[in-house]
Amino acid sequence: MPKHKTNFTKRYAGKSGIGELMDDLGKAMSGNDMLMLGGGNPASIPEVNKIWRDRLAQMVDNGTEVDNALGNYDTPQGNKLFISELADFLNRHFKFGITEKNIAVTNGSQTAIFNLLNILGGTGQDGVLRKILFPIVPEYIGYADQHLEPEAFLALRPVIELIGDRRFKYRIDYNALDEVNEPLGALCVSRPTNPTGNVLTDDEINYLHQFCKKRGVSLIIDNAYGAPFPQILFQDIKPIWDEDIILSMSLSKVGLPSTRTGIIVAKEEIITALSSVNAITSLSTGSLGQVITHPLLKDDTLINISRNIIKPFYEEKSLKALSWIDSFFEGINYRAHVSEGALFIWIWLPDLEISSIELYNILKGKGVLIIPGSYFFFGLQKPWEHSDKCIRITYSQNEDVVEKGIKIIGDTLKNL
Ligand SMILES: Cc1ncc(COP(=O)(O)O)c(C=O)c1O
Repeated sequence: MPKHKTNFTKRYAGKSGIGELMDDLGKAMSGNDMLMLGGGNPASIPEVNKIWRDRLAQMVDNGTEVDNALGNYDTPQGNKLFISELADFLNRHFKFGITEKNIAVTNGSQTAIFNLLNILGGTGQDGVLRKILFPIVPEYIGYADQHLEPEAFLALRPVIELIGDRRFKYRIDYNALDEVNEPLGALCVSRPTNPTGNVLTDDEINYLHQFCKKRGVSLIIDNAYGAPFPQILFQDIKPIWDEDIILSMSLSKVGLPSTRTGIIVAKEEIITALSSVNAITSLSTGSLGQVITHPLLKDDTLINISRNIIKPFYEEKSLKALSWIDSFFEGINYRAHVSEGALFIWIWLPDLEISSIELYNILKGKGVLIIPGSYFFFGLQKPWEHSDKCIRITYSQNEDVVEKGIKIIGDTLKNL
């Protein structure tokens, strides 16, 4: 580490929530005995893996296709063939009315969102700080440290709707939203939401959309788990897009996280800005994921495996995880967020007397990795007790790992 830390070093080369998460994830995936209920790695689905293997074999047989995928830099906007196929696909299925100029590909959607948040929010040349508003938290831990100016984030608490004895759902607090009068650069939501598994309703999205139109800002919808792919989404909602919406998509959760393929659908000026940043920071985007999937967009394989294999696979896993929670947590005061999509179950423990980070450490000592809830409430202007009484668990790993992990969490909470 250099002796004199720059602001950038201080902000990005130290510890961060996402750094800790990825570190634990990496260690757990590389062979130690931890029960991994912490990370966001997609599950290994044999039928889907076979589709990637067959496609790679086809590329190798073809020769030129694999040579081009490995040996050429694509443009900073992405692979031309993939972009054109994706524009056709989105117009054919969802009538987006877009052209190739509305799509940019990035090295993972994580990078895309880092760039978008910093392009749209922050101090302008006029000296005005325009904030990125998270209209509902808890939100994705991966956004928490993404802005070069930490004070550019603003977040609102949700309304909590209690459902039955053991469930709840977060909803957007429209009153709090309407009271926001600070200058804004953009709104950002993940839908389905990481960490809660919430899916904002169509009404909520319409409300946010209208709010953005009134305020002249963009609504970023992070669709990393949504439709049309990977469709880890258990509600019947359709993707929407217009010039006020920036739709972020990813190939990670269809089972290709290591190809680092993120996709942004947005108005032309945003795509141009993203491509410029991409050229400066990365030169171009990795081609492999784009070359593997472009024929699968054309013949609808990608949308079909998402609907018919990936979605039911995760839905069944989510129901099982909830049923294990309900049985192993018997006697504990808890509520689980309704599971409407994504890979996670979010558990609220109203009587928890230690912090969620202390609980994380106790569980880590017992061989179970979870993520403490407090990381997911960045941007709030006042502390909120609720934020330290929740945990996130991932249900994408093998059933015996998830079941064992949930049992240890339940037993630990009973002893506490
Ligand atoms: C909500 C959300 N957005 C974005 C990402 C980033 O995904 P990637 O960079 O692999 O596309 C993740 C990863 O888990 C996520 O959960």
